[in-house]
Amino acid sequence: MSLSSLVFLAVLLGVNGSLSVTIRPEAASTDMSAHPNSLPETADEADTSGQVRVLELEETEEDVMATGELNPNHYPAQRAANVVRHYLNTRYGSPYRVFTLNRVHSGNAEDMADSGRKYQLEISVQDFISNKTEKCSAEVLFPRGEPQDSPSVQASCEELLKIDTKAQEEAWYQQNKNQSLVTAHLPDSYGHIDPGNEPLWHLGIVASSFIMLNESTENTLYNMAQVANVTQLETENDQLKFDYYILLHDMVSQEIIHWKLLFTWSPAEGVKVLQKELMPKCHHCETVEVIANTN
Ligand SMILES: *[C@@H]1O[C@H](CO)[C@@H](O)[C@H](O)[C@H]1NC(C)=O
Ligand SMILES: *[C@@H]1O[C@H](CO)[C@@H](O)[C@H](O)[C@H]1NC(C)=O
Ligand SMILES: *[C@@H]1O[C@H](CO)[C@@H](O)[C@H](O)[C@H]1NC(C)=O
Ligand SMILES: *[C@@H]1O[C@H](CO)[C@@H](O)[C@H](O)[C@H]1NC(C)=O
Repeated sequence: MSLSSLVFLAVLLGVNGSLSVTIRPEAASTDMSAHPNSLPETADEADTSGQVRVLELEETEEDVMATGELNPNHYPAQRAANVVRHYLNTRYGSPYRVFTLNRVHSGNAEDMADSGRKYQLEISVQDFISNKTEKCSAEVLFPRGEPQDSPSVQASCEELLKIDTKAQEEAWYQQNKNQSLVTAHLPDSYGHIDPGNEPLWHLGIVASSFIMLNESTENTLYNMAQVANVTQLETENDQLKFDYYILLHDMVSQEIIHWKLLFTWSPAEGVKVLQKELMPKCHHCETVEVIANTN
């Protein structure tokens, strides 16, 4: 999205209009911000109108990165905080443990000369399954260089890790150990997920956090939009093995990005990514339409 179109929209909004950003033609299946099963993309999803988002997005197009104390609700702090969420999912996530960002309390960004840019954050992280939240301190370093390395993260959220999910994980593991399954569309185009498929969906979120952590920069804000499909392969060395086709949403570019992800999971070993592949752009699925209503 070019800066000029954003300015144009901002001007339209100034005339007292409302704005909606829609992703077509898969609007129903990929833009799930309104569905109960979607993970909140930002802390204040419910009260953040499209207007605020677009204006914030415009702000981020500036060349100079925000430094010093950050507005907790603006993109720079939100992007860094989401990297923390992905980090926690890669370290501790499971079919019964998924972390989401509840809110950003404060953030500070600092230029670290050659090594990159460091964010210090106070955030509330939420366990998506129990809904418990914890206030955590975190540090995110976006390294400099081309190609850019993935951000490095330090975070301590001790309380959330005490939630005991072992029994559920073991039961799910046993239940799935001898089966092979194929499932599509989690959630479906109505935002619905069969309760029996929820662990599979959670596992998809956790596994896609490996991609999102690795791909994140100060200019991205990723969220998993949908598991397009899952194929379970034969269990190997006591590890459940899955092939996921995942759609990610970058809120900054409004792009839907397709990835294939082959990984294993067991209660003992967690998620181990074997292979990940960025799928070529599918132009029909990626057309982004910005609809501005001035009435
Ligand atoms: C967590 O919150 C969601 C949405 O508010 C609700 O549907 C769900 O039942 C809650 N889960 C628990 C375990 O309280
Ligand atoms: C799974 O298969 C193993 C042997 O291949 C068998 O011992 C075990 O009972 C099976 N488990 C279930 C839940 O069917
Ligand atoms: C992260 O992604 C880059 C490409 O964007 C790739 O070269 C690199 O191997 C990936 N790193 C990890 C740890 O997956
Ligand atoms: C999974 O979804 C992708 C994208 O819609 C599709 O290209 C692929 O063929 C599907 N795979 C299976 C096994 O259904």
